[in-house]
Amino acid sequence: MDASEWNKRYADSEYVWTIKVNQFVEQHLAELEPGTAIDLAAGECRNAVWLASRGWEVTAVDYSEVGLDKGRKLAQDNLSDKASNLRFVCADATTWQAPEPVDLVLLSYLQLENDERTAALRHAKAWLNPGGRIFVIAHDQTNVTEGYGGPPSKEVCYDLDETVETLSGLRIEVAEVAERIVDRPDGRHIALDTLVMARND
Ligand SMILES: C[S@@+](CC[C@H](N)C(=O)[O-])C[C@H]1O[C@@H](n2cnc3c(N)ncnc32)[C@H](O)[C@@H]1O
Repeated sequence: MDASEWNKRYADSEYVWTIKVNQFVEQHLAELEPGTAIDLAAGECRNAVWLASRGWEVTAVDYSEVGLDKGRKLAQDNLSDKASNLRFVCADATTWQAPEPVDLVLLSYLQLENDERTAALRHAKAWLNPGGRIFVIAHDQTNVTEGYGGPPSKEVCYDLDETVETLSGLRIEVAEVAERIVDRPDGRHIALDTLVMARND
């Protein structure tokens, strides 16, 4: 999907995704000391708003202006005095460059084909302050045949070993294919996500 297709998808006033922070973001980032962060492909900004509410200074980047507008609304409704912790940049995640290094780069379900995926991860890795972390959450390739939801094509899904390899040079703190429970009216499902947290030591 390109930016205009994402804009169409986000055009409805309802949020496309849940506005609740992603469960793995909450699980792995809640204990970190707040600093500066980039949420790359932030979408409607559920994770960026959560980080900003906890004192992080967040730059939410996405190429869908409509998604970011919904993020602005989410921030307005939830951040009150912390609204200035969050800024929005409409840009392509594969080419945009961070103006200065940060303490955290979050990629939450930025599903790209091989070369673009590698480019985005390599850029993100280069933006880290000493001690900074990158946290990748993405639909795993195994999800296509064994899991629930997500893109039907393996091309845009992540492979754990490949993701770790692309982040070589960083210290890997978390590397797993994690089960995510998805409750739907037709019952409970399990989605399979690549999770990698790596630190610039
Ligand atoms: C599945 S949504 C995830 C949104 C958000 N990270 C979350 O977890 O709720 C994927 C997002 O990636 C964005 N995206 C996809 N390709 C992109 C690119 N090349 N540059 C910037 N954003 C991109 C889309 O606009 C969309 O908002």
